[in-house]
Amino acid sequence: MNYRIQEVGKKIDVPVSTIRYWQKEFSEYVSPLKTDGGQRRYSEQDLFTLTRIKEMLYLNNKTIEQARILLCNGNSDIGKIDWTTQTILVTGGTGSFGKHFCRIMNDKYKPKVIRIYSRDELKQHEMRQEFGDERLRYFLGDVRDLERLKRAMVGVDIVIHAAALKQVPACEYNPFEAVKTNIIGAQNIINAAIDSGVKKVVALSTDKAVNPVNLYGATKLCSDKIFINGNSYAGEKGTRFSCVRYGNVIGSRGSVIPLFREQQKKGEITITDERMTRFWISLDEAVNLVMDGLSHMQGGEIFVPRIPSMKIIDLARAVAPDCRIKTIGIRPGEKLHEALITVEDGRNTVKYNGMYIVMPQYEWWERKNYINATKLPEGFSYTSDNNKEWMSVDDLRMVISAN
Ligand SMILES: NC(=O)c1ccc[n+]([C@@H]2O[C@H](COP(=O)([O-])OP(=O)(O)OC[C@H]3O[C@@H](n4cnc5c(N)ncnc54)[C@H](OP(=O)(O)O)[C@@H]3O)[C@@H](O)[C@H]2O)c1
Repeated sequence: MNYRIQEVGKKIDVPVSTIRYWQKEFSEYVSPLKTDGGQRRYSEQDLFTLTRIKEMLYLNNKTIEQARILLCNGNSDIGKIDWTTQTILVTGGTGSFGKHFCRIMNDKYKPKVIRIYSRDELKQHEMRQEFGDERLRYFLGDVRDLERLKRAMVGVDIVIHAAALKQVPACEYNPFEAVKTNIIGAQNIINAAIDSGVKKVVALSTDKAVNPVNLYGATKLCSDKIFINGNSYAGEKGTRFSCVRYGNVIGSRGSVIPLFREQQKKGEITITDERMTRFWISLDEAVNLVMDGLSHMQGGEIFVPRIPSMKIIDLARAVAPDCRIKTIGIRPGEKLHEALITVEDGRNTVKYNGMYIVMPQYEWWERKNYINATKLPEGFSYTSDNNKEWMSVDDLRMVISAN
């Protein structure tokens, strides 16, 4: 649909003279067609861009120059997000991460609305009872269902994509299901977000996606690649996609601690290999990383937190100091050590405020945010065994008892 300048003025509530001025100042971004009679006709995209310009100049007090940079960066903001104006969709909102994210957002940041998107009505019902907050809205839906996602994303500013099948053995045994949820689901999120004019999307990745040895990791690697390259599909809509990547989350559903606690009752704990190491992150830190990613993203980055490592045997000792520990051998699809950044990605990684940021390698990409970040030495990689920070048995005991 095409609009006359007067119609645009009415729609966005700005005088025609201002629209003419903005058109001159932002000529690369607003380009109405001309009729044979020389009259200008504005497209939906022009309308969308002019609305963003108005928002930046009038609501966010940006200068024309700053607004130009923001338009050039797609939808990335430099600096803080005003959460109170944001409508957020969290896929997998009833999971360990999703619930914690909602708790922190509601307590601290007070967003306009958070939409929870997941399949199981019981988990949503229980969450509704537990949270009782009217800012939270519950959408039943599957990430495999593009139409439903599009509906759920109407009017959404930010999407956090946390829905996934994440149990390694379940993904091995049901490979097509893992592909449908973790890969096709990712593709659907990208298409729905672009079509719905979402500004920013952050997808949750995992250390298992780095040099994957199991199907879960392989599907998450595909998902990461799909999100990073989703930026090239966004075109004029300007939707921006980035990932955050971290390792084991303390106390999340299906983590090793509940298993150790169960085994403790029988007096014997099984570990696969005494040398095994893992990264370790709390849910608070995972949520903070997502918030940092959202504030700093230009699109195409993978944000990785600088977190400690631990030895699995130390964790077993911390959970059950009096138990026998039996070594049962490494399982198929399991690694001795996990990696968050490979040497290849390390070349394109910078260190910034408690994070590593793996930057994309698009030809047109230029770093505009996190300008003070430092480059890493040649050969840098980040693995759970070459980490400089470690959790001792005592540290682990303290963290476990607090969770
Ligand atoms: N936990 C960790 O240690 C860890 C570490 C690194 C990265 N991550 C990543 O972090 C994300 C969140 O993990 P989590 O620990 O919060 O997982 P979780 O507790 O298992 O929660 C998964 C969520 O996804 C939803 N879900 C699953 N399949 C879905 C589908 N097809 N459509 C819509 N929703 C679906 C689930 O609800 P329904 O079953 O009701 O649909 C649930 O709300 C995942 O992407 C995971 O790969 C986790």
